Amino acid sequence: MWTLPELPVQRELRRIAIITSGGDAPGMNAAVRAITRTAGSRGIETLGADRGYSGLVHEPLRPLSMSSVGSILQRGGTILKTDRCEAFMDPAVRLQTADALRAQGVDALIVIGGDGSLTGAHHFFADTGLPVLGLPGTIDNDIVGTDDSIGFDTAVNTALEAIDRIRDTAHSHDRLFLVEVMGRSSGFIALSVGIAGGAEAILLPDEAVNAETLLARMAQTRTREKASSLVVVAEGTDPTYTTRLAADLGAQGRPARACILGHIQRGGSPSGHDRVLASVLGASAVDHLQAGYSDIMLGIREGAIARTALERIGHERKKLPEAWLALASTLAS
Ligand code: F6P
Repeated sequence: MWTLPELPVQRELRRIAIITSGGDAPGMNAAVRAITRTAGSRGIETLGADRGYSGLVHEPLRPLSMSSVGSILQRGGTILKTDRCEAFMDPAVRLQTADALRAQGVDALIVIGGDGSLTGAHHFFADTGLPVLGLPGTIDNDIVGTDDSIGFDTAVNTALEAIDRIRDTAHSHDRLFLVEVMGRSSGFIALSVGIAGGAEAILLPDEAVNAETLLARMAQTRTREKASSLVVVAEGTDPTYTTRLAADLGAQGRPARACILGHIQRGGSPSGHDRVLASVLGASAVDHLQAGYSDIMLGIREGAIARTALERIGHERKKLPEAWLALASTLAS
């Protein structure tokens, strides 16, 4: 259970706009629902823009209501759709967008997305002064200032379900499998999935471990006694790495199959954890806007809501916890 701060109302709000932006993440709908229902219960209207910043720039907003956000809590993806918008990099476009929002009576914007989307939110506020609040919505969980992001837990569980299945066939055929998980240049999904899936090795982003090194690493552990093994590989920035590594292992006399889980990890019904996280953060976003906060992201740290300046997000890299890295290695040995 996370502690929610009680905040005094300091700012009158009539209308809040909401976007989901960047890669979709299970639980985004739960956040949209929580914002809409919390705001609605206080007489504040909410409007959604379709396709993230693109919709904000190019399309009219559509009203969300207590009933229109019904039955979306359990749905994966985002009913608002999402996009990555180049045009929003232009300060002139940001100014025009703020004018258009103000003309529609919008006095605050909530952005649910990953690091790029939240950095865009900071620039929007810096250029226009329109109050903005960010929520971490990404399966990658790579955003500073929060232990958790909306969608991460579901993605880890989806990958684990696949890994448990792969284990069965790996065992039957005495095979080595390389299972690539998402996370771009961060290794949070790989590390969690590797620990929870009992991986014999975890290759973190862009470690660029070659076949020889991997075999030597595995030979130092109990894996040398096993006929079948499973290695979790973080996708990193080279899309050909996992398949090349499997081929190189074969050339070294240790045949391996590569399995790239890909976008399957982004879909599906959000876990209970992600639904609660999104609901708590969504409701608290409305509290914070009413209390006068702006230019911050809400996350979770040490069991409570934590506020992080949006400006930090583009500048700081969230580090993998050393203790988890050590744990993964101990458990695989
Ligand atoms: O940021 C979320 C994420 O799913 C990453 O893990 C992945 O590298 C990327 O998005 C894929 O993006 P796209 O859907 O544009 O291919």
